[in-house]
Amino acid sequence: MKVLFVCLGNICRSPLAEAIFKHKVRTSDFANAWKSDSCGTSNYHVDDQPDPRTIKNALKNGVQVNHRGRQIKPADLEEFDLILAMDQANYNGILGLTNAVTHAHKVQLMRNYDPCGGEEVPDPYYGGENEFQEVFDILNRSIDSLIESLKKN
Ligand code: 4NP
Repeated sequence: MKVLFVCLGNICRSPLAEAIFKHKVRTSDFANAWKSDSCGTSNYHVDDQPDPRTIKNALKNGVQVNHRGRQIKPADLEEFDLILAMDQANYNGILGLTNAVTHAHKVQLMRNYDPCGGEEVPDPYYGGENEFQEVFDILNRSIDSLIESLKKN
């Protein structure tokens, strides 16, 4: 199973989602079977480190984030089994890729897995520490339920 987390810049939400997923899976029975990566629909932060506020907030919550920004490409739709968009604009961006019709069934909104409900993982880029913590909390509980769902399939 290969899971791809997607946001706009690939420096805040999706690298954090990838880091939380890897953190939780590392010690599980699925450590070798489940792969993950993240990317952005934009090319704004190609090769950039994650946002320093994301790194700092994640560390405060016990999670290390290691990633370099990259933009989504059509081959990602072939390679990954599940593609999770942080918000509706990212979702639309993924479905705008040339080969998306064939793979549309793999693309979902991240918060479909949020046990508390909700539509989008809000973009924290123009926010402060509270917004970064809110994103962490949303992703943390959504990824717990994602992992439970993957175990059943
Ligand atoms: P992300 O946040 O999509 O969660 O990585 C953003 C990062 C950068 C920008 C927008 C959103 N930006 O406009 O540069």
